[in-house]
Amino acid sequence: MVKQYNVLVIGSGAREHALTWKISQSKLLNQLYITPGNPGTALCGTNLNIPASDFENIKKIIWEKAIDVVVVGPEEPLVNGLADAILDDKVLSDVIVIGPRRAGAMLEGSKAFAKAFMQKYNIPTARYQRFEKSQEKEAIAFIDTMRSPYVIKADGLAAGKGVVIAETKDEAISTIQEMFSGKFGIASETLVIEEFLKGIEVSYFVLCNGEQYVLLPEAKDYKRIGENDTGLNTGGMGTVSPALGVATEEFTQKVVERIIEPTLKGLKNEGISYCGFIFFGLMNVDGDPYVIEYNCRLGDPETESILLRIESDLLELLVKAGQRELSTSDIIISKECAATVILASKGYPESFEKGFEIRIDAEKLESHIFHAGTSIKDGKLVTNGGRVLAVSSTGSSLEEALQKSYQSIGHIHFENKYYRRDIGQDILKRSKQLF
Ligand code: AMP
Ligand code: GLY
Repeated sequence: MVKQYNVLVIGSGAREHALTWKISQSKLLNQLYITPGNPGTALCGTNLNIPASDFENIKKIIWEKAIDVVVVGPEEPLVNGLADAILDDKVLSDVIVIGPRRAGAMLEGSKAFAKAFMQKYNIPTARYQRFEKSQEKEAIAFIDTMRSPYVIKADGLAAGKGVVIAETKDEAISTIQEMFSGKFGIASETLVIEEFLKGIEVSYFVLCNGEQYVLLPEAKDYKRIGENDTGLNTGGMGTVSPALGVATEEFTQKVVERIIEPTLKGLKNEGISYCGFIFFGLMNVDGDPYVIEYNCRLGDPETESILLRIESDLLELLVKAGQRELSTSDIIISKECAATVILASKGYPESFEKGFEIRIDAEKLESHIFHAGTSIKDGKLVTNGGRVLAVSSTGSSLEEALQKSYQSIGHIHFENKYYRRDIGQDILKRSKQLF
């Protein structure tokens, strides 16, 4: 008899809905739980009501529900040591946790740690210097030695707001002063100031267990709120996969040789055993890859596109990673293209209203709808966040995938619905220029 696994997914966004959707199709699945989950994840498994920060009750539920595999979606619990809390508990030490211990999560939890790691292992990244709160003068003097734009990063987690790209020296200096005076609490007591890299961003992902890994499909993320990449940064307004014309075969080969493999070797050398996903936020600078950031988890909304292109049984891959039986050839990736468009609440990423009823003409959809910020109120589905739904589709071409997502959006109604109409357009242009 093939073993069947009980799985717990932690988190409550569209990334976690996409993960539960994919895991729910596994032939190895017994029971699927999500905590805290959302109305979308409730369609794929059982939502439990424990916040991702409540480690004690998460451990209790792992024991009570005889969970075999825990998949941690967001970074915060990992940086705060959720994997350690589970694996160091004698009765839970056999559980497979997909998500690194605190030491590995430092790749995302501390930009200064990540930069020093890259420097030590010769992994291409922007030139930088690190400054402590007591070194404000030196930090400002360093700005004088650099050219605009200036990239200033809070060391710790700052809910995606800890990176400022300042155009002028004055703006750079006031950013440094603001951050050191506690804008992000202890997260900005240390700063990284680095060189600006000009190129095209692309996200790569691996599932690994420290040594063995599989390369997942890459994606291009659209981070700004406005069309043509204008306005404020968001969690991500859409993604496409593959990143045609950016992630060429030659570029991917360089990413593997110069970045992925040295990163895994570096982790091993540091004695950090890392079971989970690594998200490499890269810049393609004239065909050469540089690391902008590491994340210790999958991306959101990248996950909603890339999982649509993985033909393999995801749970089987997760179990193999946990049991150290993973081999690079274990993953089958579809040739299809995938596109995700985020439906957001007007006003996001600043203030916005919530609680509007969402109506979906389900029979007209040609897409997967992954829930991000929704809830059920008086029996109705309502908006409950800045990013509300991820509309994800596949097609034999990127045009077709995008066309399906935009067609589906026409059948999803709620007040103050906002989305970008230009997701994937730059990639389409670029890929056409190649032929
Ligand atoms: P991070 O949180 O490190 O991903 O930074 C947020 C965004 O700032 C990235 O997605 C990039 O668009 C941009 N960024 C960060 N570092 C650099 C850099 N060195 N050069 C150019 N853009 C950068
Ligand atoms: N989409 C970018 C992220 O998940 O950090």
